[in-house]
Amino acid sequence: MANAKLIVPATFVLLAFYFGTWRLRQMFWLSQWLMLEANLYMKPWPSAHPFFSMIARLEWHAPDRPAVVPPLHEFNASDFDASKAYDIAKGNTEVLVVRGLFDDAPSRSWGNEEFVRKYGRTKMVINNGTGANSMSHRHQEFYKIVDSNLQTLDESIHRGDSVVSYGIDEIFTQNPELADEVDVDRLGRGNHRQACRQLGMLYGRARAGQAGGLMYHNAISSNYLMQVSGYKLVRLVSNAYSLYFFPVSGGEFDSGFIASAKWDDLEELPTLDVVLGPGDVLLFPPWLWHSTKTVDPPSIQPIPTGQTDRHANLSIGITCRFPTPTAAVKNDLMLSLFRTVGGKHGIPSGSSKWARFVPLYSQFLDYVNEVRGTMPPWDDTNDCWSSKRTACRKQGVNQ
Ligand SMILES: *[C@@H]1O[C@H](CO)[C@@H](O)[C@H](O)[C@H]1NC(C)=O
Ligand SMILES: *[C@@H]1O[C@H](CO)[C@@H](O)[C@H](O)[C@H]1NC(C)=O
Ligand SMILES: *[C@@H]1O[C@H](CO)[C@@H](O)[C@H](O)[C@H]1NC(C)=O
Repeated sequence: MANAKLIVPATFVLLAFYFGTWRLRQMFWLSQWLMLEANLYMKPWPSAHPFFSMIARLEWHAPDRPAVVPPLHEFNASDFDASKAYDIAKGNTEVLVVRGLFDDAPSRSWGNEEFVRKYGRTKMVINNGTGANSMSHRHQEFYKIVDSNLQTLDESIHRGDSVVSYGIDEIFTQNPELADEVDVDRLGRGNHRQACRQLGMLYGRARAGQAGGLMYHNAISSNYLMQVSGYKLVRLVSNAYSLYFFPVSGGEFDSGFIASAKWDDLEELPTLDVVLGPGDVLLFPPWLWHSTKTVDPPSIQPIPTGQTDRHANLSIGITCRFPTPTAAVKNDLMLSLFRTVGGKHGIPSGSSKWARFVPLYSQFLDYVNEVRGTMPPWDDTNDCWSSKRTACRKQGVNQ
């Protein structure tokens, strides 16, 4: 009889859950997925996939599913006031674009012949999309990661191969003098050592579509993407839809997630497209899903000052990442929680090995750094954080 008595409240709870708010259900299902299938704590269990696909399909057609795109704020260099802009972007939870802020920066000439002669021997890890399957939804098939150097990469680009650097901080750790040429001060957060906990360069083939860019992924950090050469389409998707991406932990040094959903399905979500040209900068918040393509200029453009005709083949972007722990937790609580519990990223090597099992511990450390102004700079080779390959390797991080 006890069982029969339970049926009514149990049914009620189930119905309440299912007709409860869409966002609460997303959080519930996403947490189940992250625990069992994201390759964070255990090997994914393929027989559970049909179950999660079914849930995602049901939620996709749920009548209460919202249609949201990430809010965007756009400025011209002349009317960009850093302190006001960061308020407008609500403490790094929303997207910001500043057109032409780096138009006359010293980095403008990167990619010319002298640059390649001087830095050609810089070792780089690259994605050689030539021969990889650019429509695959599996990370291992989409990317073909190989060791190379800047000169080989540059020659390959000008032969028409779809290649892009992937070990993005290596050019700066090997040639620290290049950091000054970025002129990070224009962003209004101090110099490169004050503003960036990781500094990186993306050097790839222009006008190569998906093969010149990166598939859907995200990161625990806020990220400035400064475009130096070529046009890049950045497609951004709200974290309301994180479940549909079927997040899985990505490469060895990634702090975020890689999408394992099919591209075609994701293309049906509401997206925000931003096209960046030479001199533009995009600031995007933590966890926001994004993919990139290198595209044709929107109209015929003169060769930018300081560049040559070889830049028509080059897509060059610079990234400056920095922690914004409050924004990370606000933008996606589930991804923040599951990515940091048990993860080694952002935890000093001297900490107790149990510290990383304290929920949001690395975000707590980031928060303390923020309040006390003690964020480790990008060239601190003891700080293993968000794609800092050199520092992470030194600490034996291999996850
Ligand atoms: C930026 O300036 C251009 C002209 O210089 C103007 O057409 C455009 O509306 C401006 N954009 C913003 C967001 O102020
Ligand atoms: C990329 O792959 C193609 C085809 O295998 C090869 O010819 C090219 O040299 C590779 N590029 C680099 C930079 O490794
Ligand atoms: C750009 O790449 C094409 C191959 O797609 C090549 O024929 C051309 O010479 C390259 N341009 C320069 C300036 O290297």
